[in-house]
Amino acid sequence: MTCFTLNGKTVAANSAPSMRLSAVLREEMELSGTKIGCNAGDCGACTVLLDGKPICSCLTAVAQVEGGDVTSIEGLHDAGVIAQLQDSFLAHGAAQCGICTPGMLVSASALLTENPNPNRADVEDALGGVLCRCTGYSKIIDAVLASSEPVAVGIEPGAGGNVGSPIRHLDGQPKVDGSLCYGDDKVPAGALAVRVIRSPYHYARFTIGDKDAFLASQPGIQAVLDAGDVPGRNCFGVIPPFADQPVFAENMALYRGDAVAAIIGDYDVVSDFDDAAFPIEWEPLEAMLTPEAAGSEKASQLHANREGNILVRGYVETGNADAALGAAAHVVEVNTSTPFIEHGYIEPEAGYALTEGNRLVVHGCTQAAQMDKESLAEIMAMPADAIRVVPTACGGGFGSKLDISFQPYVALAAWKLGKPVRICYSRGESMRSSTKRHPSDIRLRVGCDADGRISGFVFDGIFNTGAYASWGPTVANRVPIHACGPYSTPDYRANSVAIHTNAPPAGAFRGFGVPQSAIAQEIAYDLLAEKLGMDQLAFRRLNALKNGVPTVTGQVFENGVGIDDCFAALEARWHEALAEADAFNVTARQNGSPWVKGVGIGSCWYGCGNTSLPNPSTMRMGITADGRVVLHQGAMDIGQGANTVITQIAADALGVAVHCIDLVDGDTDLTPDCGKTSASRQTFVSGKAALLSGAALRDMVLRHGNVSRQARLDFEKGNLVLTEDGQPQVVIDLTKLPVNDFGYVFMAEETYDPPTSPLDDKGQGIPYAVYGYGAQIMELSVDQSLGTVRLDRVTTAHDVGRAINPLLVEGQIEGGIAQGIGLALMEDYQPGRTENLHDYLIPTIGDVPVFEHHIIEVADDEGPYGAKGLGEHVLIPTAPAIINAIRHATGAQIHHLPATPDKVRAAIITARGG
Ligand code: FES
Ligand code: FES
Repeated sequence: MTCFTLNGKTVAANSAPSMRLSAVLREEMELSGTKIGCNAGDCGACTVLLDGKPICSCLTAVAQVEGGDVTSIEGLHDAGVIAQLQDSFLAHGAAQCGICTPGMLVSASALLTENPNPNRADVEDALGGVLCRCTGYSKIIDAVLASSEPVAVGIEPGAGGNVGSPIRHLDGQPKVDGSLCYGDDKVPAGALAVRVIRSPYHYARFTIGDKDAFLASQPGIQAVLDAGDVPGRNCFGVIPPFADQPVFAENMALYRGDAVAAIIGDYDVVSDFDDAAFPIEWEPLEAMLTPEAAGSEKASQLHANREGNILVRGYVETGNADAALGAAAHVVEVNTSTPFIEHGYIEPEAGYALTEGNRLVVHGCTQAAQMDKESLAEIMAMPADAIRVVPTACGGGFGSKLDISFQPYVALAAWKLGKPVRICYSRGESMRSSTKRHPSDIRLRVGCDADGRISGFVFDGIFNTGAYASWGPTVANRVPIHACGPYSTPDYRANSVAIHTNAPPAGAFRGFGVPQSAIAQEIAYDLLAEKLGMDQLAFRRLNALKNGVPTVTGQVFENGVGIDDCFAALEARWHEALAEADAFNVTARQNGSPWVKGVGIGSCWYGCGNTSLPNPSTMRMGITADGRVVLHQGAMDIGQGANTVITQIAADALGVAVHCIDLVDGDTDLTPDCGKTSASRQTFVSGKAALLSGAALRDMVLRHGNVSRQARLDFEKGNLVLTEDGQPQVVIDLTKLPVNDFGYVFMAEETYDPPTSPLDDKGQGIPYAVYGYGAQIMELSVDQSLGTVRLDRVTTAHDVGRAINPLLVEGQIEGGIAQGIGLALMEDYQPGRTENLHDYLIPTIGDVPVFEHHIIEVADDEGPYGAKGLGEHVLIPTAPAIINAIRHATGAQIHHLPATPDKVRAAIITARGG
């Protein structure tokens, strides 16, 4: 027994002395505010105070705190500084998904107790051990710096003023007090645990041995699952025609991490289980980890119906690219490559399942509750309405939690044993088994005429799509549509191909392949501008897409094309930054300093929603007899703010303040299908559905009261008061109205599906109803002797159509840029080698530059209040801007990302002539 003080009270822990303090806090003390992101000291999510000092509780045995004073997030309310700090986090939008927030707050409280007036460097030092994958850190730093000042409590906007207002996340409070429950935070008492046995080889045959003998020899393990235990289809996939991933592989594992079996048993036994004890014979085979290997003549065929290991090809053609290139005044050729990129959400996949009569209920983190339900129904051979998916809070997703992961295993286990069963992936399991950003290998030839107009563009992209399809078809189809960027390109041909290998499945990751292609595109435009002797921004503005100019798929927008507005907003800083870099470099040369400065630009466009496919979202709003408005919105909020933004839209459409609206989110029994949280579709598509629902509900009420469209709605003690010209005209006694099956006296449910059309053989058609646009300028410094890059400042201009919530817009931009920094400078997932957060580096608080934003609002007629999507767009320009800035600073051209110091140094030497 270990005795210590926990949050001001003396406690005695019965867990083994060697047990991690984090596990004792969560499992024995039932304080789940302390999060587990890695169990290895890398992420800082588990930070608590020991005698006032921050420690990683995952690296601390409980015996080490004997007699000590431990404070977790739940105890911080006694620490004095915390209330203002929490308020400051909310006011600054410093908690997005919120999984890192307890660690951040605990670390910040220790800093502020010791130093009530820290500077930026102090904050960076104090919080440097805590990783955040969502925010880009800047808002967290600002929140800590501002926490000693009283936070101005914004006046909540009234009816009609919600859209455009920078209100806080409506669901933010539980994120800052540690009470928000993620996938592994609140599981049924006594739940069994399931552990997935996965292939340790990239490619292997296997035979499972004697399961009965194994069970007999393993006290505490109650059952084994394998392919034979799947009652329905042993196969899943996010795009039904391409579904190919087995719940349990049969005889052949196609990647390191492929699931082959699972054990179910007591939590402690399963948690400590050594996979080597599982009876299985492996026969490793020669693995094909690259498209070259998988495309070779002697390559094995990974899927019977996919010859040459080709999953899918994408193609778009317009005009005559070869003829245009032949006639071009200048032509450049660019070859680039990028590696696998890990999503790196701090919350690993986690959840639990239980049975309720003939129904199966699955709780856990997800981006796509309705899709999970449909997949589980097929796997379990159950009717869809027998499955309920109840999303927990989601500690980051970025695309990977669109695919099912843990769900079938807890579902099968709970169904087989009739007991609640839980699971939480280790960091290693998460990184081995989850989807990744597609590695790319891109060849691009692009020309321009003597005036600088783009003339001829030929693109070929090879994408390593890993062992299973996941979102590979989406990437292969989206890239050829976007590969020229937001520029008029009348003569264009783009090919893409997704090739299966024995790597992890490559899937959706913020941008669906477009960030990779944008790197080649933006390098090429810089090179062309240089050949012309033209300013790089001027080159882009000359070619920028405009209203009325066809895209490469032949689509013509009559309004809403905002890329040149973005460039215009950057003009001033672009020229200032270039002048400052020139002046610095002159002095640096004179002083013999190795440091030089550079400035680079990148741009983006991104079609919001599915490519040429139905993409509906349905919202339900109701008014209860006691005068509450309830919004049933199933658009998963994974930290990006869907709960807040969609409520703002619905509130204005109905004509009430946001505080009048109660939110029901996610649960598939309680919300209509809003589709998945992906492709920057929720603000646009689900927001439009919310607008339509709110407007329909308003119409219904106004018709009932027989008042004009201008009437104001007020809820007063069970009455709905309709006011016109400042005078209450009608008082509706809601308690007297009939209540429908959903419990409402008024209710509206509306669906919105963006108008698109299929693409023809040449990729011509209307793939998206709306595009968003953006551009970023990166200013950086390079130490030429070491090849190290320091990011100084990024200036952004993103056209969001209408900023429904400018605070959340900035949060999305900064988080996307941080991920773009990782893509550009450090991230490189190698199967079998970088499966943890110390070998796989993601940006820390010290890696992000200062941000300056221009939010551009070029309204689009289609979006709600003119809004466009944003989430994916913001990552796209960052890496090309960095690569172009490195070249501007040093002359070194980086082709193969990430631009680690060794590559930058080598490129500098090459640029100097070797
Ligand atoms: S869980 Fe302790 S540092 Fe990551
Ligand atoms: S808010 Fe920091 S990881 Fe999500």
